[in-house]
Amino acid sequence: MPVQIGAKPESGPDDPIGWLSDCHRRIERFLSVLVRVSEQAGAGALTGPRRSVFENALRYFRDAAPKHTADEEESLFPRLRRIDAADLREALDLVTGMERDHRTAEAMHAEVDRLGVQWLTGGQWGGEQAARLAELLKGLTQMYARHIDLEDNQLFPAAKRVLPDAERIAAGREMAARRGNRLLTRAAPICIYWTR
Ligand SMILES: [Fe+2]
Ligand SMILES: [Fe+2]
Repeated sequence: MPVQIGAKPESGPDDPIGWLSDCHRRIERFLSVLVRVSEQAGAGALTGPRRSVFENALRYFRDAAPKHTADEEESLFPRLRRIDAADLREALDLVTGMERDHRTAEAMHAEVDRLGVQWLTGGQWGGEQAARLAELLKGLTQMYARHIDLEDNQLFPAAKRVLPDAERIAAGREMAARRGNRLLTRAAPICIYWTR
């Protein structure tokens, strides 16, 4: 199912750093959906429109968000680590912390997914499970706020300054290949991504 986010045209493979920042907007948006539904439905049953938006957001973090982590850890960070630039040292110090955050987020998302599926499928659900879900989502919201701020405002601007064109293009191609090269065809607007 295609979903279009925001009015601004999204970046594509020729601007992989911009593309990564666009992904941050999706992470923020889908996380806010999980938080909102969790707050509104609490320990009650998940029904109606809330159910479908929650399911969609859960699927985003299960299927699409891991590609963003791979984009950073496999296509961006190794390229930055290979560059010997004085003005990149500070930014590179951040990378280890970013990778640590990714592992923490993965563990938290795995538990959110398990609880979310339990909620959706009519498994055991009550105050205890709802409170744990709310706690995890609060933790993720805090972590992403700090993590995304560091990436968008420190790491990515530094990467944009130092990444040679050939490396930028190679990173964009890897990111597109990670999504089956659908974005390279331009058959559809590149602001469209697939939720499954
Ligand atoms: Fe990251
Ligand atoms: Fe990121």
